[in-house]
Amino acid sequence: MSPKKLDLSVRYLGLSLENPLIVGSCGLTGSIEGIEECARAGAGAVVLKSLFEEQISHEVARLSADSAASAWHPEAAEYIEAYGWEDAVGRYLDLIRTAKRSVGIPIIASVHCVSPGSWLEFAKRVADEGADALELNAFVLPSDSRRSGPENEQVYFDLVREVRARVALPIALKIGPFFSSLSQMIERLSRSGVAGLVLFNRFQQPDIDIEKMQLSSAPPFSSPSELALPLRWIALMANVAPCDLAATTGIHDGAGVIKQLLAGANAVQLASALYRHGPEHLGTILGDVRAWMERHEFVSIDAFRGRLAHDPAHNAAAYERVQFMKLSTSIE
Ligand SMILES: Cc1cc2nc3c(=O)[nH]c(=O)nc-3n(C[C@H](O)[C@H](O)[C@H](O)COP(=O)(O)O)c2cc1C
Repeated sequence: MSPKKLDLSVRYLGLSLENPLIVGSCGLTGSIEGIEECARAGAGAVVLKSLFEEQISHEVARLSADSAASAWHPEAAEYIEAYGWEDAVGRYLDLIRTAKRSVGIPIIASVHCVSPGSWLEFAKRVADEGADALELNAFVLPSDSRRSGPENEQVYFDLVREVRARVALPIALKIGPFFSSLSQMIERLSRSGVAGLVLFNRFQQPDIDIEKMQLSSAPPFSSPSELALPLRWIALMANVAPCDLAATTGIHDGAGVIKQLLAGANAVQLASALYRHGPEHLGTILGDVRAWMERHEFVSIDAFRGRLAHDPAHNAAAYERVQFMKLSTSIE
């Protein structure tokens, strides 16, 4: 079979992507040069580096001046160091406009937000500049012991409702896995007005330098073993959530992409692997996906996507098993 006959196209957030590889929000998509490089390397779409709610709300000076806060919000610190904060909004809107003019792939804008607030007006401007979709990177660290689980969860629904009320753009919500009833939360969010959910954000974790006895940050890049958590939840939710699902975290190679598609992901997002190997790694991954499709005689992604999604009649045990009972008898 000729590789040219393979159809790698997918639909994600109502958009047509030539292939399911999306460059996730990170520094590689924070400049027009970076976006062009990703597009040349074969990205199906890019999610722009996030603009932080704090930048939009002009509170960033307080954030950057607070060294303790910087240690616990490294993405904000990284962005501020790299891009500064003056006119951050204007430059972000310019980036959307320029990117739309210079590359043919969908451009997904991204906001890192923790509450509905004054930044919401920005969502409208993102749409006006021609972004194809808006990804909300939302995270409420449940560290305030006075706040209940439902109170923390409500923030996500309020966010989606407020953004939805302002823009007709497709919205993707990027969430973490830390909810007490994750499947119910994913299902409710999938019906909240979003076009897609991105599972799961990988949080920058704090670390401690024991010699300097100072706070530091854990390594910013994922390892391939981290793919397992989103893989389980993509598979469990693919036939339950009515919206699209994009997998992120730990996808470093063609095998990782294929696993997530078999589990039911509509698309995948990559960041760490592209930092490690350069954006041209996208070409290697696409080549590996094509070779696998040829070997298994699949002519399109749709022909196999979701084949190994959770199915109560066939593979429930594999996805629902969390203890080592059976496995340990074979290895101990
Ligand atoms: C250097 C760096 C910067 C990042 N910045 C953002 C960001 O601004 N917004 C966001 O939603 N995710 C950000 N991320 C998270 C990635 O989009 C992605 O979800 C995470 O790295 C897990 O995917 P990976 O295993 O492919 O790296 C960043 C990741 C890295 C490594």
